[in-house]
Amino acid sequence: MIRKKLLATKSLEDLSQEAFAATHGLKRVLGPWHLIFLGIGAIVGAGIFVITGHAAAQYAGPGVTLSFVLAGLTCSFAGLCYAEFASLIPIAGSAYTYAYATLGEFFAWIIGWDLILEYSLGATAVSIGWSGYIVSFLKDLGINFPAALADAPFAFDPQHHTWTATGAIFNLPAFFIIALITILLVRGIKESATVNAVIVFLKIAVILIFIGVGIFFIKPELWKPFIPANQGQFGFFGMSGILRGAGVMFFAYLGFDAVSTVAQEARNPQRDMPRGILGSLAVCTVIYIAFSLVLTGVVSYTQLNVPAPVAVAIDAMRVLWLSPLIKIAAVVGLISVLIVQLMGQPRIFFSMATDGLLPRAASKVHPKYRTPYVTTIATGTGVAIAASLLPIGIVGELVSIGTLLAFVIVCAGVLVLRYTHPEIPRPFRTPGVPFIPVLGILSCFYLMVGLPKDTWVRLLGWMGLGLVIYFAYGIRKSRLRQKEKTRTIYLS
Ligand code: ALA
Repeated sequence: MIRKKLLATKSLEDLSQEAFAATHGLKRVLGPWHLIFLGIGAIVGAGIFVITGHAAAQYAGPGVTLSFVLAGLTCSFAGLCYAEFASLIPIAGSAYTYAYATLGEFFAWIIGWDLILEYSLGATAVSIGWSGYIVSFLKDLGINFPAALADAPFAFDPQHHTWTATGAIFNLPAFFIIALITILLVRGIKESATVNAVIVFLKIAVILIFIGVGIFFIKPELWKPFIPANQGQFGFFGMSGILRGAGVMFFAYLGFDAVSTVAQEARNPQRDMPRGILGSLAVCTVIYIAFSLVLTGVVSYTQLNVPAPVAVAIDAMRVLWLSPLIKIAAVVGLISVLIVQLMGQPRIFFSMATDGLLPRAASKVHPKYRTPYVTTIATGTGVAIAASLLPIGIVGELVSIGTLLAFVIVCAGVLVLRYTHPEIPRPFRTPGVPFIPVLGILSCFYLMVGLPKDTWVRLLGWMGLGLVIYFAYGIRKSRLRQKEKTRTIYLS
């Protein structure tokens, strides 16, 4: 009986009706280019601007380019599965909604809860990265932002598992940027998507200039050896370093799935969602490969473990006019990542509240702006607090493991739905089923296994908390369950 309850799925007819009904609440204003721009805007961010240097210096050397290829491949398996779902079930809620239709309410809750790690904690990590860049940019302008107001109060040492005080009080710039974007998002999605398109254009233009200029400064001897010899421990250079680098650089690809969370606001979701997801993923993979080749080709990878590795490369090239451009692109570019993350999370909460798994008040749409303002403000508040108090290392790892788990469930969902509902028309079909979804599951799980034990423990703790909430609240309030009860009363 309980098993039946937990595995109760929403029918696809119900979902279609919801999609139709919801169009009266949310505006359908986004076209295919909006979606591709939204994807690129969500993807290119702290990963390429900050973490590439770290992965090259610590784990993979110039071979970080191969790490990008591996991580990109993993994402493309998951992306193809996302695309099938997004075109099939074009309503807000992303992987949460897909799981509800295929694997049942229990898994839907698990994934919805898990997605908080990807979206809210993802935004937390990026805003902390943004804080670092803006403080450094202000310093170049001669403005010294007080250090006590630009960092988390505690730092975590993963090697010794200890917390230490940093001397800072809280991270004010991170708090500030989240508050600002939250206000923008409450005012309306069209405005936000347009701002996003301008930012994406700037970000991509500057990265292409860096690649275009950098090509002339490449010293091929810096690529030798392309895969530095392993240092005796798993994950430090050699082939295992490439693999660990892939796990680390996976962060740089996060965001393409965010496109699927605005399906309810797309003009033609069946046709445009797959274009948005796969198009943005393809563009970013090409950019990352070129970018990392130039980065490790103009400066030795050993010098790249710094907060602004691109600036080090520009210094080595002595193209000084490029330096402020890159910093501005990073400062502005990270904002577009934040916009999409902070746009996705409230829409997932919105779907969960509509289903009764979260308090119904959270499903309110603003009478004037037509945005899910309650969940937008709630998300903004939570993320702003987390961003001002948490260290980036812990946050980043949790984002990766949480997202990989979500991808595993989505790939499994595609397989399940092909088996349980082979008859429904699929505007976009994942090619190579069952191989692509199976490869997606295996590759995501493999990257998860490579992440540290501490991160696994935190993931389990978070998911445990989610289970307590589900069994104490969601399972009783679920709308699906209420419907069943009404049906039983009518019958008796
Ligand atoms: N992919 C996003 C970034 O790199 C999360 O910032």
